[in-house]
Amino acid sequence: MNKTVEILSDKIALIQKSKEIVLNKINGAIAERGKCTIALAGGSTPKPLYEALSACDLPWDKIHIFWGDERYVPPTDPQSNEKMAREAWLNKVNIPSDNIHPISTHGKSPQEDAEKHETLLKEFFGTASGEFPSFDIILLGMGDDGHTASLFPKTSALEVKDKLITVGSKDSQPRITFTAPLINQAHCVIFLVAGENKQMALSHVFAQEDDSTMYPSRLIQPQGELWWLLDEAAGKNLK
Ligand code: 6PG
Repeated sequence: MNKTVEILSDKIALIQKSKEIVLNKINGAIAERGKCTIALAGGSTPKPLYEALSACDLPWDKIHIFWGDERYVPPTDPQSNEKMAREAWLNKVNIPSDNIHPISTHGKSPQEDAEKHETLLKEFFGTASGEFPSFDIILLGMGDDGHTASLFPKTSALEVKDKLITVGSKDSQPRITFTAPLINQAHCVIFLVAGENKQMALSHVFAQEDDSTMYPSRLIQPQGELWWLLDEAAGKNLK
């Protein structure tokens, strides 16, 4: 694992830095593998990054969009990560609709939709059973409780090691999420973390020893590159 921690002066600088890295990784993946697979984070922090990317001139037909997690709501719901990314970015660029791979949330159950997305990923990447595909880029946020994607503290989703996709739970609200092993197979994982309210969780995530079931972002130790992009408010006590 190649880990970089950068503390940027403010959220605008954080977004600018994340855009630079993402563009570099998109172009690198296309040059090396002919396409780029990127899994998006939900929440609020990445929205300005998505807006910035919508103004970029990229080979959209070579870029495939996924989500690292999804709230179990319709894609029209204000809580939907898919809705946020489409409105901030994807609706504004000429990306083929077949290149956008949302997580279904309208099946019979969250379990059924998790299995459906697992199958979708396996077919897309052509991975055999027991194998984990490598996304080119996985964007992540971190909650003030140390969760990432929908891997919440003390939930069963943290223990899932033999699946790509599982059902997460936030305050008994179901979510569909990448598992830690899938995230850790990525070529490049980028955390975007801003705000004073993230300080405490970051101190536990960055501690030499701590409880990964309490601070699930500790589980993210990818085989490829790991970037932690923090603003000063979130990261100042880590210096
Ligand atoms: C989600 C995200 C979640 C998010 C963190 C941070 O579906 O909400 O995947 O993991 O990244 O909760 O959210 P903020 O960026 O809004 O602080």
